[in-house]
Amino acid sequence: MTDQPGRRVQDIVEPPPVQPVIRRLREDDLPKLLAFGAALAKDDWLYLDVNLQTDATIVRLINAVEARNWRQFVAVVGDEIVGYANVRQLAGWKRHVGDIALVVRADYRRRGIGTALASAVIDAGRELSLHKLIVEVVEEQYGGQHVFVRLGFRCEGMFVNHAIDYLDRPRNLMLLSYELAAEKPTPGTPSPRPT
Ligand SMILES: CC(C)(COP(=O)(O)OP(=O)(O)OC[C@H]1O[C@@H](n2cnc3c(N)ncnc32)[C@H](O)[C@@H]1OP(=O)(O)O)[C@@H](O)C(=O)NCCC(=O)NCCS
Repeated sequence: MTDQPGRRVQDIVEPPPVQPVIRRLREDDLPKLLAFGAALAKDDWLYLDVNLQTDATIVRLINAVEARNWRQFVAVVGDEIVGYANVRQLAGWKRHVGDIALVVRADYRRRGIGTALASAVIDAGRELSLHKLIVEVVEEQYGGQHVFVRLGFRCEGMFVNHAIDYLDRPRNLMLLSYELAAEKPTPGTPSPRPT
């Protein structure tokens, strides 16, 4: 067996598996969600529309736990929130569409937590009787695209220079979507009604 100079045992050992609890966000999650936002790497600001680093945003999310048109989920490991996702029903002529946001703490990525949270918000979209789900992902965010494409989303198009990151640089945004209305209804379940 060839030795690999410079690599230590702890570099090649897989991280221990985690069993996150995926559940709805609660009012008493405020301190944990504040800690989650504060722990996000600065690079995540490149990829997120919602700025979870500001206390005001977190308070707004907590205040919306009972909102009729939102469903918010967290991934909890031990006593810490390590992931957050929401689906928000849009208004007016887009009221049949839900917009998704998703973020996982950097040190917990690539362990299936993003996929579990994405599945939870897709189910929530069904529960809200939405017809279509969308997620806007920065072109360079391959992890985000991978999670949603694997769950059946497809790329509808690209908005060029549509987002400005925290360094004031324009970014292309990919619009991924999923047609809930095209799903075959399970026998015995009512078909979705317009909201
Ligand atoms: C997108 C994000 C939520 C994924 O979370 P996660 O917990 O790592 O997701 P999962 O572990 O369920 O799956 C990640 C998948 O993407 C893949 N992936 C991650 N980074 C990748 C990259 N740079 N290129 C290609 N694939 C990548 C992983 O290999 C994994 O696929 P696999 O299960 O086939 O190995 C996380 O990267 C994140 O928070 N990014 C910043 C915010 C963001 O971009 N959100 C999406 C738009 S709202």
